[in-house]
This record gives sequence, C-alpha cells and structure tokens, in this order.
Amino acid sequence: MKNKLIHALAATAVATTMMAAPASSSAGEVNAKVVAEGKKLAFSRSQGNCLACHMIKGGTLPGNIGPALIAMKLRYPDKQKLRDKIWGTPELEVKYTMMPPFGRHAILSEEQIDKIVEYIYTL
Ligand code: HEC
Repeated sequence: MKNKLIHALAATAVATTMMAAPASSSAGEVNAKVVAEGKKLAFSRSQGNCLACHMIKGGTLPGNIGPALIAMKLRYPDKQKLRDKIWGTPELEVKYTMMPPFGRHAILSEEQIDKIVEYIYTL
C-alpha cells in the first residue's frame, strides 16, 4: 500500500516536471530578451539615460544625482511600485526631484518602461 502511494507520487512528480520544463524554459528565453532590451534602453544616452544620474552595475561614467540602482527586489518587493516610480506616478514623486517622470511625460513608451522595469528588477 505504502509502496503504491510512493510510486503514484513519483509518477505524478515526473509528469509534472515534464509538463513544466518546456513552458518555463521558453518563458525564460523571452524574459532574457526583454531584460537585454531593457538594459539597452536604460544605458542608451538618448532614451532612458538612467546612467546620467544612477550608478548601475556594468554602466560607464554614471552620475550620482540619484541613488545607485542595486538590490531592487529587496527595495521594491512589489514590482508594480517600481514601475509606478519609473513611470512617474505623482503619489510616489519626491518633491523637487531630478528624476524624470518617464511615462507621465511620455519620454518613454509603456512598452519601453516595461522592459526597463524587467531589467532594473534584476539588479
Ligand atoms: C536627471 C537625473 C535622473 C535620471 C535621468 C534618472 N533618475 Fe532615477 N532618480 C533620480 C533621483 C534624484 C532620484 C531620488 C529621488 C526620487 O526618488 O525621485 C531617483 C530615484 C529613482 C528610483 C527610486 C530609487 C529608490 O531607492 O527608491 C528608481 C527606481 C529610479 N530612479 C530609476 C530610474 C531609471 C530606471 C531611470 C532611467 C530610465 C532613471 N531613474 C533616470 C534621478 C534620475
């Protein structure tokens, strides 16, 4: 009886991993592409230009007007809040900040902001 149960559980576990594996690896690939595009936008001097004010790992000649962008998951457990911050939601705006409201002022598109958020969230 006990043996049968273990076998059944093992079979279920194998079946679940077999089903899950292809799905998760393709999602991972899509995500890696989005993260790479987000990094390009963030580093681009004519688009995100985050390096003008923020130290970002791997970035050259960073400015120090804003805080270093590190440990973002820890500081923003809620990813949506990080997006709102970059988008420029008025409630999250620091008074007299130099941080441009990228979405509210249409500096970047919604899609570009999504990509940058995915990248920043890996830092
Ligand atoms: C002109 C300077 C400037 C640029 C360009 C800039 N920022 Fe900022 N940023 C700031 C300043 C100053 C702050 C701190 C005050 C505040 O929160 O507004 C800040 C704060 C932030 C925060 C909050 C950090 C924390 O510790 O909570 C995030 C996230 C952020 N910036 C992301 C970005 C991203 C992503 C870009 C590029 C798309 C960018 N910033 C471009 C000046 C800038």
